[in-house]
Amino acid sequence: MVVTDRQQEAFRSAESEAARLYARARQVMPGGNSRTTIYQSPYPPYAARGRGAVVIDADGQERFDLLNNYTSLIHGHADPDINAAVIDQLQYGTAFAMPTEHEIALAELLVERIPSLERMRFTNSGSEAVMMAVKAARAYTGRPKIVKFEGCYHGSYDFVEVSLASNPSNWGDGDPISTAYSHGTPQSVLDEVVVLRFNHTEMAERRISEHKHELAAVLIDPMPLRAGLVQAEPDFLQRLRELCDAHGIVLIFDEVISLRTAYGGAQSTLGVTPDMTTMAKIIGGGFAVGAFGGSAEVMSVFDPSQGSPRAPHGGTFNANPITMIAGLVAMQKLTREEFERLDRLGAMLREGLAEAMDGARVQGQVTGMGSLAQIHLHDRPIRDYRDSLPTAEEAARGKTVFNGMLARGIFTAPTLTGCLSTPMDEPEINAFVDAFAASLRDE
Ligand SMILES: Cc1ncc(COP(=O)(O)O)c(C=O)c1O
Repeated sequence: MVVTDRQQEAFRSAESEAARLYARARQVMPGGNSRTTIYQSPYPPYAARGRGAVVIDADGQERFDLLNNYTSLIHGHADPDINAAVIDQLQYGTAFAMPTEHEIALAELLVERIPSLERMRFTNSGSEAVMMAVKAARAYTGRPKIVKFEGCYHGSYDFVEVSLASNPSNWGDGDPISTAYSHGTPQSVLDEVVVLRFNHTEMAERRISEHKHELAAVLIDPMPLRAGLVQAEPDFLQRLRELCDAHGIVLIFDEVISLRTAYGGAQSTLGVTPDMTTMAKIIGGGFAVGAFGGSAEVMSVFDPSQGSPRAPHGGTFNANPITMIAGLVAMQKLTREEFERLDRLGAMLREGLAEAMDGARVQGQVTGMGSLAQIHLHDRPIRDYRDSLPTAEEAARGKTVFNGMLARGIFTAPTLTGCLSTPMDEPEINAFVDAFAASLRDE
């Protein structure tokens, strides 16, 4: 695929296939949309098909897909090995009210790779995985509250949505105020969530100690995408570990995204092992998936073999053999060598994007690690959500750059977050950097 200079985008025209599909969608879905994250005004391009690193929209434009369904498609689109395994399984059945050997194989692989996992279970999404990890912590400790960090995304469970989109008008002058993300969130939900600032150790020490008898869990993503894609500082994580140990609180790492940064997940490189881990995205090989696990002791709350479990957990499609087989093949293909290659490409990407901003004399910085990168159009030091939150003017420039890249054949998140897939190599990195450099000049 050759990325040319800014193309006239077919999907923007009133006669486009995207416009036609969107008009139909509006008749049956609110705002024509079934997933808030992927809405774009006035309407998004519609996907027709994908192949490796490329996604082709319904109006025929090809783009390099640097979003990969929000980081989940680590092997890009229509991977032939995953497809072959899934097609083979299709003829034997897609779901049973019986467990299959495939779920054991994927669980064995994950338990073997990820330090904190002794026992685990599957769900159909990361949201459910987080919900079940929180339930596990509550059942295990008998306590109601959780700690989460301001601006950090953990899916659609009410309790973990708290303070997801706080802003200067409502986050308060002192410690963060628990704010509702969805209208109608009961006050009782907000009251059960202690919101802290990411990477602020003193605040964590003080507030966790204050609530120590009520806290079931501390939930943290070690590199939260919506809070700037910066890493948790080692001393901060270490202190959280110590506080959880001292007060009998379950430390949960949400590795739904960060699992793609290392063979054993981010936790294998951070020097801190959580009690529980949530996973999703890459472990499903492109199919709907989630999983959670941790120490055998905490996970025993789900054990039905000794009578009624303390935390029952159902799910009609949990661990279905299609997802399990796709996930197993995807994870087997992710060898240590592949991680090293993605790390090298990721470093090249982050450097290239930073150089493009230098060259254009644009203030900015690039965060991320491994196969992940996020562009910020400001140079304030970023340690947490508040530092990374763009001003209205930065957000407007970000939108121009996003649209410029879209028009030049590069698909990222509107937040200018990109991630790599294994079919990619230097040409895709160069295309991204060139499109970004050109888009910085757009008015
Ligand atoms: C860190 C994190 N946790 C949880 C979720 C929720 O996962 P899902 O979209 O599969 O429900 C996401 C989704 O992007 C995520 O990024």
